Amino acid sequence: MEYTNWSIYSLNHETGKKRQSQNALFTVGNGYFGIRGFYEEDTASEAGNGGIYLAGVRSNSELGGRLFEDKRRDLCNIMNILRLHIIVDGKQINGVDNITNYRRELDMQGAVYTRCYRYDDCLDITLSRFADMVDVHRVRQDATLVADKDMELTFRALIDSDVHNLNLISREPDPVQPGLNHILSREIGTDSIVTLIDSEDDNHIFAAGQTVLTVNGVAVDGSVYTNDFVSGREWNLKLKTGDKVELRKIVAVYTDNDGTDSAQKIDEFLTSEINWDEIDAAHKNRWAERWANCDIEVDSNTDDQTALRFDLFELMCVCPTHTDRVSIGARGLAGEQYEGCVFWDNEIFQLPFFTFTDPESSRRMLAWRYHGLDVARRYAKYNWFEGAMYPWQACEKCREQTPIGGGGYYSIHIISDIAYAIRQYFLATQDSEFMFEMGAEVLMETARFWASRADYSEWDGYWHINTVRGPNEYDFYVNDNAYTNTMAALNLRTAKEILTKMETEAPEKFAKLCTKTNFSFAETEKWLAIADGLYICYDEKRKLIAEDSNYFNRRFLDMKKAKPTAKRIVDSTMNHEWLPFYQVTKQSDVATLMCLLPEKFSEAEKIAAYDFYEPRTAHDSSLSYAPYAWLGARIGKDEQAYEYFKNCAYLDIADLKLNTISGLHFANFGGTWQVAVFGFGGASFTDGKLTVDPKLPKEWNGMTYHLVYRGVNIEVKVTKTDVTVAVQGGSLPVCIAGNDTVLSDENSTITVKM
Ligand code: BGC
Repeated sequence: MEYTNWSIYSLNHETGKKRQSQNALFTVGNGYFGIRGFYEEDTASEAGNGGIYLAGVRSNSELGGRLFEDKRRDLCNIMNILRLHIIVDGKQINGVDNITNYRRELDMQGAVYTRCYRYDDCLDITLSRFADMVDVHRVRQDATLVADKDMELTFRALIDSDVHNLNLISREPDPVQPGLNHILSREIGTDSIVTLIDSEDDNHIFAAGQTVLTVNGVAVDGSVYTNDFVSGREWNLKLKTGDKVELRKIVAVYTDNDGTDSAQKIDEFLTSEINWDEIDAAHKNRWAERWANCDIEVDSNTDDQTALRFDLFELMCVCPTHTDRVSIGARGLAGEQYEGCVFWDNEIFQLPFFTFTDPESSRRMLAWRYHGLDVARRYAKYNWFEGAMYPWQACEKCREQTPIGGGGYYSIHIISDIAYAIRQYFLATQDSEFMFEMGAEVLMETARFWASRADYSEWDGYWHINTVRGPNEYDFYVNDNAYTNTMAALNLRTAKEILTKMETEAPEKFAKLCTKTNFSFAETEKWLAIADGLYICYDEKRKLIAEDSNYFNRRFLDMKKAKPTAKRIVDSTMNHEWLPFYQVTKQSDVATLMCLLPEKFSEAEKIAAYDFYEPRTAHDSSLSYAPYAWLGARIGKDEQAYEYFKNCAYLDIADLKLNTISGLHFANFGGTWQVAVFGFGGASFTDGKLTVDPKLPKEWNGMTYHLVYRGVNIEVKVTKTDVTVAVQGGSLPVCIAGNDTVLSDENSTITVKM
């Protein structure tokens, strides 16, 4: 992969799995669509399937059951709405054979993906697309073909419903099995197709296209082209050398998830007048606005700028802006791994990026958790607990999708992770409306869960949370995982604080909530007793927090022997069952906790934890690197911090985990942002005040980042010698290197020499 500041591009025409893997990198999206960088004209079946996913559009699968109230359901690969047939002198081009001058590029500023090449030394082809950021139901496609000899060209722009899921999820050396076809029936119309997918509720997908084709600037009507699977337009052209053919196409897609008038919206779209230039400009402007609030500029001779921007770009591509009924899956809409399901990845790794750059998006995704509260209540009851037990791996309906045997029942830190994200959002926005309408109820029910899940031991006088799986997933059954217990305690305390606040600030809403949930403050006595009494195993001498109460007793594992290559330990040297015998941490655990709640740990405890756990961490999850980079930056492990940062920032563009093929790693993207802003950039907020204490890597001369906090837009510029903070839209207390001031619109900038 090659880089410019605002783009990634490739000049190598990869084949097979390598190309499929790159296709994930060239994903464009708008939170409604995720569209992999597949070839529009490819005739090979694996690629002809495309790779287009819609947020929350999932389908049934026969592949095994799921824990609670649901079958396993796949993220559904919908119709290939960008299908092209390009036939030159009777021969169909497949985008693969007979090509030169190949280049494909993702322009992250304008959010457009373009691929160009020369076919058989006689036709120059440029194909591009974007997922409209303004009207998220639309995708724009463009094609330009310039003939370099006289030729007969048949050109078709189609919607193709003959697709299967890509199923690019198996690990080497497993063969990739063909994915399922989730389309049960199709209705082929003129320029439109309606499919019914195999989902729990009948879900129709309505797609229609409007196309304009010109030859040397003159519009040429296409004839209707349909068969059992496709619908679109065909042009039969006789071209002379130098003739230029240009196609513009807009596709609109709606589903039954979008309301009951989807068919009507498609009819309206088909008869509407398209203003092509306006659509282009509006899309670009929307992206410019987004970048203005979140871009990180890095002054460095490395490619870090591009790598970082790629991560932020893909986060914005997957962020739902149109609804609060979906959230972001672990692999987003860029691949089928984890079937589009949502994990703690979102609340702990991804949401901070949105909370501090686009808080409305965070609010929507937290509201999605609120809408899942009843399911979480039922799930708690089903498991003989109280309150709300949010599922570890949630489908769009917030139901548990962890495979049976996959540890969902034990991975309960997700519950306090959600509470943490609500608290963080509230601290950053002071959005009482959200808190009193939704957040408080989630905090209360999750606190109730912990109160029913923790056990008091007469034997040692502590509260314990037993038999859990913490972030280190190599053991399902640990007791008193420090991460889980500390986050649960915070959940319990935050619930009490917020409910107390609500009683005073919104008494009517509070009274309603009490009636609805049968709440009284008497319950909170137990909450606080648990929060104060939860056991954390701690070695006073070494100032070392134990990951869980048995970790120190286990056998040391030589990581070099256990993990000689980038492959996960369980895919190479060791059997899953051996792992709890050793001190082996799948992914950062205590380190993650120290990043999330830095004020709870002393510098000595952070250093002790880093030195102890880092050599014991296998990094067998992409979520592992960012906390080590972030914590490392804060405690003076400069070189390791930068090395870990590179592991995060380049994880997908360099395919470091060898599984980018099955989708991008969105938690890692969010983690990378946190490393840059909180780790290197040194931003932190306490009681409404911004503190900036940067730790720039030596490879960087400077960085500028942007944040939004309590309605104030903030720009922080860090160089090797000074820090400048500028605000817009309100006042903000700021502290830089011990210099306290209050910035406001009248006195908006401060520069401090470091
Ligand atoms: C990690 C989890 C993560 C999940 C989805 C697993 O490999 O261990 O922490 O939530 O992947 O990204």
